[in-house]
Amino acid sequence: MKFALLFAAAVAEAAVVARECTAPGPDEDGRYTISAPGIKAQFIPYGATLTNLFVKDKNGSDIDVVLGYDDVNYYPKDPSHPVYNAVPGRYANRIGNGRYTIDGVTYHTEQNDGNNTLHSGTNNWSYRFWNVTAFSADSITFSLLDASNSSLGMLGRVEANVTYSVTKDTWHIKITARSLDQKTPIMPTQHTYFNLDAYRNPASPKIWDHTLYLPYSPRYLEGDQGALPTGKILTAAPGSINDFASAPNLTVGHARNLTGFEGNCGANGACEGYNGYWLIDNPPPDADFVARLSSAFSGVKAELRTNQPGLVLYSCNWMDGTASLKKTQGIPGVNEKVVRSSCIAIEAQDWPDGINHPEWNRTTAQIYGPGRTLNWESSWTFGLL
Ligand SMILES: *[C@@H]1O[C@H](CO)[C@@H](O)[C@H](O)[C@H]1NC(C)=O
Ligand SMILES: *[C@@H]1O[C@H](CO)[C@@H](O)[C@H](O)[C@H]1NC(C)=O
Ligand SMILES: *[C@@H]1O[C@H](CO)[C@@H](O)[C@H](O)[C@H]1NC(C)=O
Ligand SMILES: *[C@@H]1O[C@H](CO)[C@@H](O)[C@H](O)[C@H]1NC(C)=O
Ligand SMILES: *[C@@H]1O[C@H](CO)[C@@H](O)[C@H](O)[C@H]1NC(C)=O
Ligand SMILES: *[C@@H]1O[C@H](CO)[C@@H](O)[C@H](O)[C@H]1NC(C)=O
Ligand SMILES: *[C@@H]1O[C@H](CO)[C@@H](O)[C@H](O)[C@H]1NC(C)=O
Ligand SMILES: *[C@@H]1O[C@H](CO)[C@@H](O)[C@H](O)[C@H]1NC(C)=O
Ligand SMILES: *[C@@H]1O[C@H](CO)[C@@H](O)[C@H](O)[C@H]1NC(C)=O
Repeated sequence: MKFALLFAAAVAEAAVVARECTAPGPDEDGRYTISAPGIKAQFIPYGATLTNLFVKDKNGSDIDVVLGYDDVNYYPKDPSHPVYNAVPGRYANRIGNGRYTIDGVTYHTEQNDGNNTLHSGTNNWSYRFWNVTAFSADSITFSLLDASNSSLGMLGRVEANVTYSVTKDTWHIKITARSLDQKTPIMPTQHTYFNLDAYRNPASPKIWDHTLYLPYSPRYLEGDQGALPTGKILTAAPGSINDFASAPNLTVGHARNLTGFEGNCGANGACEGYNGYWLIDNPPPDADFVARLSSAFSGVKAELRTNQPGLVLYSCNWMDGTASLKKTQGIPGVNEKVVRSSCIAIEAQDWPDGINHPEWNRTTAQIYGPGRTLNWESSWTFGLL
């Protein structure tokens, strides 16, 4: 009951802000739509979430290449809350053992993922109704004021803006954030899940036949059974499970018959595939992309550019087949559910748990005091193979 009231109030508030700043507002179904040639993207204030992303496939059809729900009211209710295409923060991914230290003071965060904190714990940014502070035909900005300690153990008020915009074939994402009063960890990401076939491949809904190329990422962080970095930096040998750097044509499932693929993302063997962090090492300034995901079936390729030093790959092991696909996706009677290992999240961000690893030299970069603004930028450019 309390939840329903809060929800209604937040929706009303977001709507008011949108009306004041811009016209028109969201569609009847609650989505804000922006578009440019070759691309259409839709968003909701909850989590600053991308709900739909339409690009052209090789048949010339507009296909929806990201996961989500038809009912926008289901996002806040979904008990599994996979952070569908939202912005987790103020500190994304894991904080080891739910603690970190700044200037000799140790802070304790909520242990909501085994012994660790995931996506900042309770009241994290992906569970908030953000304000819509600007909206036009090709751009939308969401804003948030994050009160001190609203996520347990994360002190200091933080102001954040997320601007999504589109130009021909490209989705641009810009996140800015700053602490208004005291030092605090800030490390957001944009957590979009892709299936570039829109689940229309009758052969398989799985992600294994997508091709992934990370040309500057032979190195990755070793994870423990809880997907927390151990501290070790490893280099993937060509053809090994975690290799996406040695050739442009490695599929996401290239290693799926190798021993160790089951359990490669921990959970004592229960997590198959990927849930870890790859470093982006010295990309040339004119690099065309730092990650390219593509699918021969739809013919779609998606190329990532980012100012972040690495990315998280998560190949959807924990999707359990209960969530329904959107009506824009799937094949009736054949692919109807979000089954295990049927999508991939590619999340550009700083090194996970860097606040607890001074030996990585990322601690200073991840702690923000007044006067310093975080500038996070990425873009995805779509095209055909
Ligand atoms: C959590 O920490 C406790 C106490 O240190 C330890 O006994 C336990 O094995 C840890 N659990 C996991 C899943 O790491
Ligand atoms: C984020 O906050 C919500 C709402 O407080 C909470 O239910 C949820 O468990 C939190 N998510 C995580 C991953 O901790
Ligand atoms: C949205 O803006 C209102 C009015 O400025 C503010 O009270 C509220 O906290 C903001 N919401 C969020 C999620 O920051
Ligand atoms: C932060 O909130 C928790 C309760 O969620 C409380 O126990 C703790 O004292 C608060 N910390 C500060 C510094 O206010
Ligand atoms: C967020 O946007 C507001 C309104 O445009 C602006 O006043 C504020 O400085 C921005 N904050 C950051 C951290 O970008
Ligand atoms: C990738 O390309 C190399 C070199 O052209 C070729 O030898 C290899 O068989 C290809 N692998 C796959 C999985 O297509
Ligand atoms: C893995 O094994 C399956 C089932 O035998 C097979 O269909 C698939 O082609 C194999 N994949 C690779 C990459 O070897
Ligand atoms: C493209 O059209 C062909 C022929 O109608 C069809 O078999 C195929 O499934 C379509 N591709 C996609 C990605 O929908
Ligand atoms: C951190 O800096 C030290 C000193 O410059 C260097 O030896 C070390 O390799 C750096 N660590 C990483 C992970 O780059």
